[in-house]
Amino acid sequence: MPMEDPRSIDDVVAELRTIAAGDGAWGFGRAFTYVFDGPDLSPLTGEAMHLFAGSNGLDPTAFPSFLRFENDLVAFARSILNGDDQVVGSATSGGTESIILATKAARDALRATGVEGRLNVVLPITGHAAFHKAAAYLDLDVRTTAVDEGFRAIPAAVAAAIDERTALVVASAPSYTHGVVDPVAEVGRVARDAGRWFHVDACVGGMVLPFLDDAPVFDFSVDTVDSISMDLHKYGYTPKGASLILYRTAELRAHQYFATASWTGYPVANPTIQSTRSGAALAAAWAVVRHLGTAGYERLATESWQATRTLVEAIRSSDKVDLAADPDTPLCAVTSPDVFTHAQAMKERGWLVGVTPSFGPSPAHLHFTITAAHLPLADELARDLIETAPEAAAPILGDLDLSAIDPALIGTLLDSLDLDRDRALIDAAIDSLEPQARAAVISAFLQHLYR
Ligand SMILES: Cc1ncc(COP(=O)(O)O)c(C=O)c1O
Repeated sequence: MPMEDPRSIDDVVAELRTIAAGDGAWGFGRAFTYVFDGPDLSPLTGEAMHLFAGSNGLDPTAFPSFLRFENDLVAFARSILNGDDQVVGSATSGGTESIILATKAARDALRATGVEGRLNVVLPITGHAAFHKAAAYLDLDVRTTAVDEGFRAIPAAVAAAIDERTALVVASAPSYTHGVVDPVAEVGRVARDAGRWFHVDACVGGMVLPFLDDAPVFDFSVDTVDSISMDLHKYGYTPKGASLILYRTAELRAHQYFATASWTGYPVANPTIQSTRSGAALAAAWAVVRHLGTAGYERLATESWQATRTLVEAIRSSDKVDLAADPDTPLCAVTSPDVFTHAQAMKERGWLVGVTPSFGPSPAHLHFTITAAHLPLADELARDLIETAPEAAAPILGDLDLSAIDPALIGTLLDSLDLDRDRALIDAAIDSLEPQARAAVISAFLQHLYR
C-alpha cells in the first residue's frame, strides 16, 4: 500500500500532478455537467484556498474571516435576487446541502405548528434529485407532479398534490434537465393559497438568470417565495464546495439551525450540516465574486447565453438532432436517433458529454451545461454534434438485460466492461431499466468501486 510509506513533499506534489492529469483528459471548455469553465481564476482561488484552508467555521467568533465572507456573499445574493434587508442566509458546501437545509427548515416549521404524522414535499418530476435525498434523510414523502409539454410545472397539478401535511412546495429556476424555469409566480400562488412553504431551487440558475435580459421572474420579487437555493460553484464559476441558501426572514431560517449543549463537550450551534467547516471553498468563492462583481457576471452570463443560442439555432436547423425543450437558460437536453452511440462519437471528437436516461415524458438525451468558455467553441460544438449524430438507433443491447441481474453482482459485471469503450452499451442498459432498478444498479456499482 503506497500510503503507508512516507514520501517527500516534492514526491507527493509530483504524484499529485500525475493523478490530476488523469482527471483532466478533456480540455478547457470540452466537458459539461461536472465542470463550469469560464474565466481562469486559478491563481486567485489557489491563493484564497491556501490562506484559509485551516480556518474553521465551527466558531466564527474565532475566525472573523468566516463571518465576513459568509455575510458578504449572502448580501451579494440578497441584492441580485431582489431580496430586502430581512433576507438572511447561510453558505453551504453545495446545492444538495442547501436543499436538505431548506427542506429541514420547512419540515420543522410545519411541525412547530403542531402538525403530526408523516409530512411530504410536493415536487414537479423535473425537480432535482436532491429533494428526494432530503426527503429520504428527513423521513418525508415526495409527491411528484406532472409537467407540461415544455417540461414546466403545472400549477393545478401542484395544487392537487398539496394537503395539510405538505411541508414544502418546490419550483425550479431552472430545472437542471431541460433548463426551463417553472412558472414561479403561479406555483407560489398555489402554495400561498394552501399556506405552504414555497422554495425556489435556483441552484443552477441563481448566478445566471439575474444577469440575463428578459429572464423569467423567479426570485424574492415574487412575494410568495420563502427560500431560494443558489450555487456559487456552478455559474458563479467558483471552486467546488460553495452554495447559498437564502430565507425571506430570520424566523424562517431559525428552523434550519441545530444546537445542543447536552453532552460533556462544548455547546454546539450549527447553521449547516457540517460542524467543522473549512474556509477554503468559502474564501475562494468570496474572492471570485469580489473579483468579478455584477459586471463580470453580466458578461459571463451573456457569453454563455450567446453560446447557447448558437447551439440552439444550429440544432433547430438540423434534421439530425432536436431539443427536448426550448431552454430559458444555458442548459439543454439534445435528442438524436441514438444518444448512446452519439455520446461516444462526441467523445471521439474530444467532447465529454453525459447521457441522461429517459424518464416519464422526458426522452433520453445528451445534456449540455453551456458556460462562458463555450462561446469561442460554439460553432465547432454545434458542427460536431450534428455531424456525429447517428442516422438510426443501433440495437446496442442485444440480449443484455440488466433487470434480470442481481444488483449485488453488478459490480463484477461492470468490471468486465471497459467504462470508456463500452460506455454506449452501459448507458443503454441503464436506460432500459425501471428507475428503481437503475438506482439500485448504480448504487451497487459505486459501492463496488469504493472498497
Ligand atoms: C437545479 C439543481 N438543484 C440542485 C443541484 C444539486 O447541486 P450539487 O450537485 O451542488 O449538490 C443541482 C446540480 O446540478 C441543480 O442543477
